[in-house]
Amino acid sequence: MDSVVMAGTDGVKRKMDPSMVTPNDFFIYQGRIKEMFGSMINAPAKQLALIPSVSYALSNAFQNIKPKKGGNAITIADEFPSDYFSLKKWAELHGQELRVIQPPPMGSSERQDWSNQIIEAIDERTAVVNISSVHWMTGFSYNLKAIGQKCRENKALFVVDGTQSVGALSIDVRDCNINVLISVAYKWLMGPYSIGLAYYSELFDDGSPIEESWMNRSNAQNFSRLSEYETEYVPGAGRYEVGESANFILLPMLDQALRQVLAWGPGEISEYCGSLTDRLIQGGEKLGCIFEPKDCRSPHLIGMQLPGGIDPVAFKQNLEREKVFISVRGNSVRVSPHLYNDEKDMDALLRVMKVSIEGS
Ligand SMILES: Cc1ncc(COP(=O)(O)O)c(C=O)c1O
Repeated sequence: MDSVVMAGTDGVKRKMDPSMVTPNDFFIYQGRIKEMFGSMINAPAKQLALIPSVSYALSNAFQNIKPKKGGNAITIADEFPSDYFSLKKWAELHGQELRVIQPPPMGSSERQDWSNQIIEAIDERTAVVNISSVHWMTGFSYNLKAIGQKCRENKALFVVDGTQSVGALSIDVRDCNINVLISVAYKWLMGPYSIGLAYYSELFDDGSPIEESWMNRSNAQNFSRLSEYETEYVPGAGRYEVGESANFILLPMLDQALRQVLAWGPGEISEYCGSLTDRLIQGGEKLGCIFEPKDCRSPHLIGMQLPGGIDPVAFKQNLEREKVFISVRGNSVRVSPHLYNDEKDMDALLRVMKVSIEGS
């Protein structure tokens, strides 16, 4: 988006002249950015922290999650590696059983039971459930509300990686009883790389962060008194903010990106993307492709399995020759349109699919 690029180049230029950066500039963007992100997920700004990556935010979460006696931790099959490795490390460190919930096969009538299987696996010994809001390979959309409810009943913490949906789908941390929700900026928030936001519920307010940045102390705005070492952190989730969070290039970019996404509206974005992916699914099913069941499908991120014998990587190369760009994740072909796509793009994709699948 042009406005995001311009904000970044302005930021670079401003840093060329340090006299243009005042102490106030270290703090002007954070509040606005958190208000905007908070309005997307129904969270107060004070419970949000700027993060450089999902793995970073997860480290802060897991450092503060208590194991249970004979406890277990739950995730889903083929979860994104940053989540899987963070949870596995925590489970091993604390002697907790790691339960990886396998899905029913894609295309089977039981496929939609995946969320129920997660719910059934949660018991009084579950310390934490860590899943993505939608599966990053296939777009399977989990029943977060029901999973969060079962977590609450069993005093298990619910940690959600919202990277593949926040900005394109509505999500409500209170309604879904989510304790930690993390999203990078560079996907559906349309922002730059190496920055994102994480929500930590009030349960984390007294936790121990993985690093000690001067900016996270309650006196940080008073530059002349920083060495009067203040023991209090910024209230809420401020202690989990990454060091050098006042990034003079990335923050103005993220600020612009969030304004734009909010102006479009995540609801409108998902509705528009859904109209495009519905078109793809209608055409794709006729060609024998398999998609997630209607009730568990994300409108903006669609994984499809090609009919037998077609190599997804060769298929991707065929598409690229026609200037159609998709991703291959595992054995799933992932299509993730946005407002810059239209029906002609879907029809171009369907044309190449037809040739690759039917050979004519
Ligand atoms: C579901 C999901 N989580 C996280 C990430 C990025 O993780 P990290 O910020 O740790 O690099 C991605 C990137 O593709 C993703 O798809």
